[in-house]
Amino acid sequence: MLHVFPDLASLSRAAAEALVNIAARAVAERGRFTIALSGGETPRTLYRLLATDCREQVPWPHVHVFWGDERFVAPDDPRSDYRTARDTLLDHVPIPSESVHPIPTLMPSPEAAADAYEETLVAYFGSPWPRFDLMLLGLGAEGHTASLFPHSPALDEEARWVVAATVPADPPQRITLTLPAVNHAAHVYFLVSGAEKAAALRAALTDPPDVHACPASGVKLVNGELVWWADQPATGRLI
Ligand code: 6PG
Repeated sequence: MLHVFPDLASLSRAAAEALVNIAARAVAERGRFTIALSGGETPRTLYRLLATDCREQVPWPHVHVFWGDERFVAPDDPRSDYRTARDTLLDHVPIPSESVHPIPTLMPSPEAAADAYEETLVAYFGSPWPRFDLMLLGLGAEGHTASLFPHSPALDEEARWVVAATVPADPPQRITLTLPAVNHAAHVYFLVSGAEKAAALRAALTDPPDVHACPASGVKLVNGELVWWADQPATGRLI
């Protein structure tokens, strides 16, 4: 499903309202709402809305926050996805600290961090796969999502939930959930803004899926709802 909005502000507001509904339903049905956050710039507007206009609508004491990927940098590094979420959202809402589950980047290696996070997820969700109530994802201009970049060996991973990856971006060392881990989520929301994403959005939505060329096209939920939230400029190549 694709929802198109004039701009990032209206896209983010609509996605925030939908997120609130998923959270309310999850808490009513299972007593908790599990969300995996994405990094980068696009979700910042949504995060700020969740910390302000939507703050009272989110059942924060029952929310558990995870990440779909992370840069292998210190938690207070400005490039850290955890730092971004803290600055724009988590430091401004009444979420219990024990409900925030960052990817541990103060480990000896990205591989050790990936192993540790996989253990965290297995302990929390149990087998066979993690089932996040909602996973937020972004889209890179060349089609990457999370830290799954074109032609990465991580794209062929079928058993691991979390792997280390070296990517052609700064910083190069990353930890990322794998496609099977993503694809078992109950809901996945892609937030896509800007004309520079138009070619990637077209590749992800219309061309025959080629996961190695466009990793985002590999997001096909096993049993869940996939929604693309895009602004007008990002849809410029769809018509
Ligand atoms: C990250 C994200 C990454 C991001 C895309 C889009 O850690 O950087 O997980 O997948 O979502 O690169 O980033 P922008 O929103 O900044 O365009």
